[in-house]
Amino acid sequence: MTIRIGSIAPDFTQQSTEGSISFHEWIGNSWAVLFSHPKDFTPVCTTELGTAAKLKPEFDKRNVKVLAVSVDDVDSHKRWTADIEETQKTKLNYPILGDADRKVATLYDMIHPEANDTLTVRSVFIIDPNKKVRATFTYPASTGRHFDEVLRVIDSLQLTDSHSVATPANWTQGNDVVILPSIQDPDVIKQKFPKGHTVLKPYLRITPQPNK
Ligand code: BEZ
Repeated sequence: MTIRIGSIAPDFTQQSTEGSISFHEWIGNSWAVLFSHPKDFTPVCTTELGTAAKLKPEFDKRNVKVLAVSVDDVDSHKRWTADIEETQKTKLNYPILGDADRKVATLYDMIHPEANDTLTVRSVFIIDPNKKVRATFTYPASTGRHFDEVLRVIDSLQLTDSHSVATPANWTQGNDVVILPSIQDPDVIKQKFPKGHTVLKPYLRITPQPNK
């Protein structure tokens, strides 16, 4: 099954370093980030897991739960956790799914055989409280992800869910945004964007971030 933006994230039950996880139930009313790791005891993955752990306060602020997956078993993950905590100087504060049977890797199409037959690529799925996939990224094993980008995309999704805007290139919190082309009624524009807006082109209208 192809997982696309707007798809319901496939549900599963799988063991993790924090016990059995039934994915949809575990997400509950939160957002979720599910991200894959090619293999335990590998250098880039070690830095990524530590980086995500250090950002827990940022994920918490956004009501986001983090879940890692790697195609090794939970015992291996637990041994690896000690190395992550030692080298990255942080406590691992979210679960890692054991996936030796590749149930989750297969369900989420995380193994790309032209890249590698057995290891996963670096996938990220951002999932909302309705269990809908809202964004996906895919990186090769050799490129570690930038977790500020994961947070930035979550910020964009949460902002654009609640206001009639989209976020332009390189947007980060507090920067100007663009008014959705579907909003055309001048009274509605005035009411939704009381800080005003600039028309660069009829389709390109810039306004200060409404909730800042
Ligand atoms: C790593 O995490 O460092 C890694 C894993 C698989 C292939 C290349 C790098």
